[in-house]
Amino acid sequence: MNKPYSLLAILPLLLLASRPSIGGETLHSLCNFLGGDYVDYDYCVSTLSTNPAASTADGHTLAVISVNLTTTNATAVKSRADSLSLSSTDPFIRTSLLNCSSLYAGATPDLHSSAAAVAAKNYSGAAAVLSDVLRVPAGCDQGFQKKEGVASPIRKENNAFSDLATLAKAVNNYMAQ
Ligand SMILES: *[C@@H]1O[C@H](CO)[C@@H](O)[C@H](O)[C@H]1NC(C)=O
Ligand SMILES: *[C@@H]1O[C@H](CO)[C@@H](O)[C@H](O)[C@H]1NC(C)=O
Ligand SMILES: *[C@@H]1O[C@H](CO)[C@@H](O)[C@H](O)[C@H]1NC(C)=O
Ligand SMILES: *[C@@H]1O[C@H](CO)[C@@H](O)[C@H](O)[C@H]1NC(C)=O
Repeated sequence: MNKPYSLLAILPLLLLASRPSIGGETLHSLCNFLGGDYVDYDYCVSTLSTNPAASTADGHTLAVISVNLTTTNATAVKSRADSLSLSSTDPFIRTSLLNCSSLYAGATPDLHSSAAAVAAKNYSGAAAVLSDVLRVPAGCDQGFQKKEGVASPIRKENNAFSDLATLAKAVNNYMAQ
């Protein structure tokens, strides 16, 4: 006799607990929204979740995480371009890879100002800087397109960075609303 009553009593509390606070974003609500904004939901969730804090993070922290992932990756792609250029014997490929390396290195100050902007909740500023940073993977790719029949050896990493920066830009644009 007691049991059904107590279950009914706690049901509204359970519903409240599973709902984000008003104006609050969660990983799922944020990625669900971006899903309509040209960023794939599964990509958004799995990428942000590479930071273990993402599952319980609010929108602000998710924006910080997205910029942090982008910044970390720029350094990794630059190192990859450097090591590929050292092992390449083709002068055109080597020059193009070094061009990519300097483009990624050149993005470091921008990525730091984007990190400072998002930390200060200046989301539109962070998104604007990320728009500029997206010229880096585009410029790297363009270098290889100058010669017909040449496949970029860094295409995969370059595209992965482009996707990350696009995600970070979308998260910051969302938070700026
Ligand atoms: C970014 O990530 C690195 C590595 O996980 C961490 O050490 C650093 O504190 C993070 N920075 C911010 C601003 O979250
Ligand atoms: C970051 O960079 C590395 C090296 O270029 C790349 O292999 C990796 O997929 C990137 N990480 C993410 C989360 O996209
Ligand atoms: C927001 O960030 C941008 C880009 O870093 C910067 O130019 C702008 O001055 C910042 N705005 C404020 C109010 O701090
Ligand atoms: C280097 O990158 C720039 C993009 O800033 C691109 O326009 C140019 O074609 C590249 N140069 C070479 C030699 O790959």
